[in-house]
Amino acid sequence: MEKEVIALKGITKTYINGKLKVPVLHGIDLTIYEGQFTSIMGPSGSGKSTFMNILGCLDRPTSGSYILDGQEVANLDDDELAYVRNKRIGFVFQSFNLLPKLTAQENVELPMVYAGMDKKKRRARAAELLTELGLGERLDHLPAELSGGQRQRVAIARALANDPAIIMADEPTGNLDSKASVDVMHIFTNLYKEGRTIILVTHEPDIATYAGRNVVLKDGYIIEDKQNPHMAGLVDEGAVREQEKVVAGEVKPSNSKLTHSADTIEGRKDDLTKVDKKPSVDDLYDQLEEEIKRGDAHA
Ligand SMILES: Nc1ncnc2c1ncn2[C@@H]1O[C@H](COP(=O)(O)OP(=O)(O)OP(=O)(O)O)[C@@H](O)[C@H]1O
Ligand SMILES: [Mg+2]
Repeated sequence: MEKEVIALKGITKTYINGKLKVPVLHGIDLTIYEGQFTSIMGPSGSGKSTFMNILGCLDRPTSGSYILDGQEVANLDDDELAYVRNKRIGFVFQSFNLLPKLTAQENVELPMVYAGMDKKKRRARAAELLTELGLGERLDHLPAELSGGQRQRVAIARALANDPAIIMADEPTGNLDSKASVDVMHIFTNLYKEGRTIILVTHEPDIATYAGRNVVLKDGYIIEDKQNPHMAGLVDEGAVREQEKVVAGEVKPSNSKLTHSADTIEGRKDDLTKVDKKPSVDDLYDQLEEEIKRGDAHA
């Protein structure tokens, strides 16, 4: 866990609504290393979503430096920011943010449309991702025809479309029941095991136990930053495996702790120093909707 993927220095954010200034983040320093699974907790209004939107390149800080994979991104314009986001980061929202008129498969295709992937490839990749997440039978369902847990799995598949090294999520289990929440957290644990860097905001202490690092925000400051050596997803898995062996008579029950080291993600580090002008996401969504209307997207 050597490589710094995210280095924040003195990040501030002040919202300006007419004459009213609302200072929310007051100078945040944080370094996140490749392959870490970090949770961000804190009371309502403490600035978690504001912070996450900056981390996810959905918004810019008012001041400070944000180095993402070696590139300063604090001052990029909207198009550049969108490009970096699409390439580097998969973002999962509390309210799923799926396009209601597109099927599960088409929703997952969107970031690949934006990345310029050809139609056949992106159809196939979307189907593969959804199948991996247990939705192989639901490719043609609209979001309204899916349960909350299924919708969130579509959103996770969409976040994975361009194979980003970083996955970010703002309250991904906030609208899910406890069973669907556990399923989603196991998916995040598996992504962590693949070597991806995961950052997620949550209200729920139980959810934070899935992360290996727990950061707490309060009033726009980081007030706590602790390691969690007993990540819930891995502990569960170890316990289940141990239990299976015990049942099979292979070993005696023990209290041994599961250790784990993430794989590195060599080979996934394409160069992002060159930022091209790209069409806006909205244009591409319109284009895809057009294609879908014409029936091309199903070819
Ligand atoms: N666009 C905006 N304009 C002005 N103030 C805003 C804006 N967005 C958020 N705020 C304010 O910034 C503060 C932090 O909001 P933020 O949404 O980041 O909190 P949060 O920690 O995510 O809360 P929650 O847990 O309820 O989701 C709040 O006081 C909020 O009112
Ligand atoms: Mg929030």
